[in-house]
Amino acid sequence: MNIEIREEGRGDREVIRRINEAAFGRREEADIIDKLCQSCSNLLSLVAVADERPVGHILFSPVTIETRAASSDGPGEPILGMGLAPMAVLPEHQRAGIGSQLVREGLKRLRAASIPFVIVVGHPEYYPRFGFEPASRYGIQCQWEGVPDQAFMILVFHDTALRGVSGVARYRDEFDEAV
Ligand SMILES: CC(C)(COP(=O)(O)OP(=O)(O)OC[C@H]1O[C@@H](n2cnc3c(N)ncnc32)[C@H](O)[C@@H]1OP(=O)(O)O)[C@@H](O)C(=O)NCCC(=O)NCCS
Repeated sequence: MNIEIREEGRGDREVIRRINEAAFGRREEADIIDKLCQSCSNLLSLVAVADERPVGHILFSPVTIETRAASSDGPGEPILGMGLAPMAVLPEHQRAGIGSQLVREGLKRLRAASIPFVIVVGHPEYYPRFGFEPASRYGIQCQWEGVPDQAFMILVFHDTALRGVSGVARYRDEFDEAV
């Protein structure tokens, strides 16, 4: 099947809701997406289209790493990157490579836009194939307690941006408000 990956367009809001609700079996992720779309202009929202019908969706939103200044206990300059979440493919279209195409296209665009890193909370068997590795290797911690070390991952495009940096990576508040 021929899959086209394109940016979310006008009129895609409702179908993106339906894809996320069907994939997750609940509405929380769709609610987060709607809130982010209202409050954040700096998103990368891609849809996967099969036979002119959207069947998959991926969202990247801004994250910050709150660094500790190397020479003091005070905060350093926050470092900006993007977070992958959520991603959804309609159940009847899963395991056909659509999710992978969404991830690869999103990462390609973010790399081209000189975004230094992307984080994800997800399955450690899935995301390393795209270049993600445990964020702990970079001294980057997850904002949420209880996330296993291997499940909090980072893909670093420009490692000079993260050299000597450690701290907590934070998604936008909409992720906390909806759950
Ligand atoms: C995760 C999801 C988007 C992947 O989309 P997809 O089109 O099925 O992905 P692909 O076909 O590219 O890749 C399938 C691979 O992902 C793995 N995978 C997908 N979901 C997985 C899960 N929940 N747990 C473990 N592995 C998973 C499969 O094992 C498969 O691996 P393989 O290639 O080694 O067989 C889709 O399964 C989905 O919508 N799931 C429900 C929502 C969700 O959990 N989203 C991710 C968290 S934000």
